[in-house]
Order: sequence, then C-alpha cells, then structure tokens
Amino acid sequence: MRVRSLRLEQVRKEYPLHDGTIIRVLDGINITFNTGNTVAIMGASGTGKSTLLHILAGITKPTAGAVFYDEQNYALWNAQEWQHFYTHRIGLLFQQPYLIQELTVLENVMVKGMVAGGSSAELTEHAHHLLTIAGLADKANQLPGQLSGGQQQRVALMRALCVQPDFLLADEPTGNLDPETGERMLDVLLDCQQRWQMGIIVSTHDSYVAKRMDTVLTLEHGQLREND
Ligand SMILES: Nc1ncnc2c1ncn2[C@@H]1O[C@H](COP(=O)(O)OP(=O)(O)OP(=O)(O)O)[C@@H](O)[C@H]1O
Ligand SMILES: [Mg+2]
Repeated sequence: MRVRSLRLEQVRKEYPLHDGTIIRVLDGINITFNTGNTVAIMGASGTGKSTLLHILAGITKPTAGAVFYDEQNYALWNAQEWQHFYTHRIGLLFQQPYLIQELTVLENVMVKGMVAGGSSAELTEHAHHLLTIAGLADKANQLPGQLSGGQQQRVALMRALCVQPDFLLADEPTGNLDPETGERMLDVLLDCQQRWQMGIIVSTHDSYVAKRMDTVLTLEHGQLREND
C-alpha cells in the first residue's frame, strides 16, 4: 500500500471562555503523520490532546491553519468527500465510547461497514472475529448498556477497526482498562497495524502504551515535541 499522510500546517486552536478571554490550546502546529507509523501523544490533562485528534479527524475546525489528508485540504471537501473519508480512511475512537444504545454490540462493530455497503455475511463474520480477539465474543448479542465502561471502550475500538482504515485516531484507548487488558488491546491494534500498514495516533496517559509506539510526542504549551 502506498504511504498516505495526515498533515497539520500552522494549526492554531483557540476557545473563547465565558468571561470573554480566549485560551489558545494549539499554537501553530506543523506535523505530518504517515501510514505504517505509530505515534503516541502524551501531555497533562487539558493540554489539548483530544482537540488535536478531533482536528485531525475533521470534527473540530482549527481557528487558523490547514489540515490535509494525502495532501488534500479538508477545507475544500464536499459532503461526499467527507463521507468517503469517514467511511474508509479513518477510524476514530473518542475518549467516551459513544456506542449506539439501540444496536447490539455486534451491530455496533459492523455499523460503518454497513454504511459503506459491505456484504452483510462477510461483515458479520469479520465483526465476530474482532469481538473474539477483543475477548468479547460472548457479548455480541447484548446491548452496550449491559457492558462495563472498559468493555464498551473495546467495542468502540473494534468498530473503529472494522473497515480497515488508513489511520486509527484513538483518544486514550486504554483509559478505562487495567494494564493487562490494555496490553491485550495493544496487541490487537498493532497486529492490525502490521497487517494493513495502518497509521496509529493515540493520545495516552499510560507509559506502557507509549512504550509500544514508534514515536512519542508530548503536547505542552500548544506545541508538540518529540520525547528523547
Ligand atoms: N468546546 C470547548 N470550549 C471551550 N474550551 C474547550 C472546549 N474543548 C476543550 N476546551 C478546553 O481546551 C483545553 C484542551 O482540552 P482537551 O480536551 O483537548 O485536553 P486533553 O489534553 O485531551 O485533556 P485530557 O487528558 O483530560 O483528556 C482544555 O483547557 C479545555 O477546557
Ligand atoms: Mg482528552
């Protein structure tokens, strides 16, 4: 597979506060992420890790600067191009699982593939396989509300992987997991990464997660720096 990229150019993000002042969360970030590479973004709570991932995913707009997928500027996309991007190019794992409460666990994992028009039998088999490697095969026909927070987060992760995206953007994928389960999820992620040369960008507070990524960056004072 040829290398694809996600690139931020001079990205700044500011939020207005209630008292009329403005906080600058990202301050002119320039960085390129490539498929085939794995990156951890660390940094204290509130430094802007989720904001950065949401900007890469296109669900938050930067105050200034530009974002590119494969050198195509997000600002120029129409609705169809956005749909293609979300369906095929990125898998997004939010800090909260955001599962669809009315669908079963299995259906939640399959949902993006169904939107993409995949064969139902193939998708069912694939989703079952993902739930099995995530240790959740016995939960396939339950509703999300019947699962623990960590189990829901694992379902959301499998949902993000089900369509084999070019990039996985995962916001604290092990946030609700004990280290042993977290390591098992990392095994699954990195196995998928190897199989289709996906790019992974994770935000994390867990050093055991960072240790397994190729590159570790820290977000601080609106800037990203590479750890030694
Ligand atoms: N929609 C918003 N409106 C105003 N301020 C916001 C908004 N979203 C985030 N912020 C502020 O931006 C800063 C960065 O938030 P963000 O959620 O990106 O941090 P984070 O690094 O992901 O933190 P954590 O490790 O706790 O998840 C925080 O100060 C937060 O209060
Ligand atoms: Mg966050």
